[in-house]
Amino acid sequence: MTQTSHDRLLIIDFGSQVTQLIARRLRELNVYCEIHPYQNVTMDFVRDFAPKAVIFSGGPDSVTREGSPRAPQEIFDYGVPILGICYGQQTMMTQLGGKVESGHGTSEFGRAFVTPQNKVDILDGWFTDGDEQVWMSHGDHVSEIAPGFEVYGTSPNAPFAITADPSRHFYAVQFHPEVHHTPNGAKLYENFVRIAGFTGDWTMGAYREQMIEAIRTQVGDKQVICGLSGGVDSSVAAILIHEAIGDQLTCVFVDHGLLRKNEAEEVVAMFRDNYNIQLIHADESDLFLGELDGQSDPETKRKIIGKLFIDVFQKHADSIDGAEFLAQGTLYPDVIESVSFSGGPSVTIKSHHNVGGLPEKMGLKLVEPLRELFKDEVRGLGRELGLPQSFIGRHPFPGPGLAIRCPGEITIEKLDILREADAIFIDQIRKHDLYDDIWQAFVAILPVRTVGVMGDSRTYDYACALRAVTSVDGMTADYYPFSHEFLGETATRIINEVKGINRCTYDITSKPPGTIEWE
Ligand code: XMP
Repeated sequence: MTQTSHDRLLIIDFGSQVTQLIARRLRELNVYCEIHPYQNVTMDFVRDFAPKAVIFSGGPDSVTREGSPRAPQEIFDYGVPILGICYGQQTMMTQLGGKVESGHGTSEFGRAFVTPQNKVDILDGWFTDGDEQVWMSHGDHVSEIAPGFEVYGTSPNAPFAITADPSRHFYAVQFHPEVHHTPNGAKLYENFVRIAGFTGDWTMGAYREQMIEAIRTQVGDKQVICGLSGGVDSSVAAILIHEAIGDQLTCVFVDHGLLRKNEAEEVVAMFRDNYNIQLIHADESDLFLGELDGQSDPETKRKIIGKLFIDVFQKHADSIDGAEFLAQGTLYPDVIESVSFSGGPSVTIKSHHNVGGLPEKMGLKLVEPLRELFKDEVRGLGRELGLPQSFIGRHPFPGPGLAIRCPGEITIEKLDILREADAIFIDQIRKHDLYDDIWQAFVAILPVRTVGVMGDSRTYDYACALRAVTSVDGMTADYYPFSHEFLGETATRIINEVKGINRCTYDITSKPPGTIEWE
């Protein structure tokens, strides 16, 4: 897809766990940056990318090891400011003629305090109240700085915690300014991009305009199909593409009968009525629920749904004349090629539902207008496009829907009960103004009936579990610490208002060892 034009910063990734955070800090400063693994960064690549500045990330290797990663040597003659962080500092020093040592007394992990030595432009706004707290995570340290560099800050185990050659605008720090535990770290990035002459031209307003042009150029007069899930990413992608090409876009919304209460109606009303987007509402619930009938194994259920979803999507997409493109809400974190040091195959915990091989199977080209964006930026773009906040701030919802919140066999009766209970739980969370503090919340209906007493009668109904977690990316999560009052009030409402449930539990498992969904 045609690239958008802005000042560009290149982050060379040496494999740090927190490289993505560098990119986030820069994007927050309206600076466009990309992360590329060091193996791919040749001088031809650099010239082609044309960065206004370069950052070397941290990494797990030791520059004292033969064959350890390096930046291309000529990058130091390319004439743009460079900031080296942790491993990035060490390779910079080594490549420019300094020395790095490993061994006793060279490591430092966690919180440290840096004491100022001299003043330099990248430290504007630092040391105003004395030493600065920083976060260190290094086994080696620089023992001799490269010619032309001076020391601007020291910490107990890093005599060269901050070094710089201001005449060439080369800066190198031992700590990680991108993490939360370096409280004043954002200031360093702000100073660095100011020194490099960035104008802060990366805004969602500008992105919208440029992307509309790029989509028009890519698509021409051809037709585009977009699968809508009701989630933020596909919604923002669809609205942006619709702004660019109007009726050349058709959205397909597959209703597998596993959606939440009123969800299908809301999605259809939103796109058809508010945005006037051509939309196929494929109600295929009978097909999906029929195939799932009697199935209780989690992986079997997931596989059935995944396969049917692709078949159904393809059937409806085939009915659109002349479609040549498939739109997808792929985000930047999905396309970053990360530096892998472990390499080994990882275990499949759950087969995630996606439409992966579809474009090749159908001979379609991809339109991915969100490929350059982080999730926060997609939300910003959504706001820019006028999507209501209630839509933008929505919790994630999994592709297989309620099927994986209904452990064991799925029945229409159970799904109906689950929908009612889930709607009450979310209503309670909204009423107590907790929705935005929680990453994801839902109810699971358990495959067990329990005995209860209501009025003077015995009941024998389903038990349910409430699940609410905090998380950053869904990879790890912790349960949300509701008050006992909240839990009590919610359980009472669910048991009183939902026919078919007589017991309510709260799931306090973190991930790991649990997963967020029950299946
Ligand atoms: P787990 O249960 O693996 O879930 O801890 C992590 C996050 O992923 C969502 N999830 C899915 N999303 N297709 C999706 O689009 C799937 O098949 C799928 N399975 C789980 C889950 O809701 C949580 O946000």
